[in-house]
Amino acid sequence: MSALHTTNNSIRTSQIVRIRTESPSVKTFILNDKLCAKAKPGQFLMLWIPGVDEIPLSVLDAGDNLVSVSVKAVGDATMHLHNLEAGATIGIRGPFGNSFTESRGKVLLVGGGTGTAPLLFLAKQLAAKTERISFVEGAKTKDELLYVKELKGVCSEKTLVTTTEDGTAGLQCMVTTPLAELLEKQKYDMIYACGPELMVKKIFQITEAHKQPLEASLERLMRCGIGLCGSCMIGKYRVCRDGPVFNSAQLREMQEELGISKLGFDGSRIPF
Ligand SMILES: Cc1cc2nc3c(=O)[nH]c(=O)nc-3n(C[C@H](O)[C@H](O)[C@H](O)COP(=O)(O)OP(=O)(O)OC[C@H]3O[C@@H](n4cnc5c(N)ncnc54)[C@H](O)[C@@H]3O)c2cc1C
Ligand code: FES
Repeated sequence: MSALHTTNNSIRTSQIVRIRTESPSVKTFILNDKLCAKAKPGQFLMLWIPGVDEIPLSVLDAGDNLVSVSVKAVGDATMHLHNLEAGATIGIRGPFGNSFTESRGKVLLVGGGTGTAPLLFLAKQLAAKTERISFVEGAKTKDELLYVKELKGVCSEKTLVTTTEDGTAGLQCMVTTPLAELLEKQKYDMIYACGPELMVKKIFQITEAHKQPLEASLERLMRCGIGLCGSCMIGKYRVCRDGPVFNSAQLREMQEELGISKLGFDGSRIPF
């Protein structure tokens, strides 16, 4: 009998080791899984919540046989997950997708909402190689600004800009306003972005106008996570297999769809 070989796509059981509350709607789950513990910044995993659904989540941190994800409660699966306690068993596949490239130069990271998670992971890795890290983080309200303490630890307070839509913390504007101002004054070796697709589209337009390089992580509906089902298509790309991180040249190729429409689970086209 041949020994069973576990691949990233094999579904494994995993225990929730710890849970941390990040904001009124976001919790971080620290899980044990040897394969996902090797994930790189930008990669995602598929989490199976027994009896409910399997959902894609970006890796917030990984190492020492543990992997963490921050989850915003938005619907059935994420709410069920929020109701679980440490010790509960869930299913896990991954890590999947590509990762951000590690620039050693002067970098700027721009995150919105839970899109900040993979960028904090990246910033921690970059901090070991470059001290020139700037971060712009945006949220709707002060309560939803995630990881501010950790971000202050990786970039100096001077290079961390926070924005809220209601003005309860930081600047009252969208993240794209300070981004445009920074790009007026400085050249970066790489700009990294993650957040809602409309935000990513605006960031792409600003970086293009300033001829500065961008790597952005995209979110699309995902089912298989491994390039088979086609639910995550954008242009000629499958976000789960070819992304989720795309560079400026690839984003240019998908302009007709970026922030305009996406596929629903039934294959129909949904406008943003
Ligand atoms: C690569 C990737 C990384 C992600 N990382 C994170 C993360 O770090 N933290 C986080 O909170 N959320 C993340 N998401 C979004 C997360 O997957 C959805 O919020 C979740 O699937 C919602 O499931 P639900 O049953 O709670 O809500 P539902 O009521 O089923 O859906 C609510 C909304 O979530 C989106 N969604 C639902 N199912 C999926 C799916 N299978 N794939 C993608 N989007 C879906 C849809 O826009 C839907 O309108 C990520 C999505 C992708 C594709
Ligand atoms: S989720 Fe199936 S092809 Fe990407």
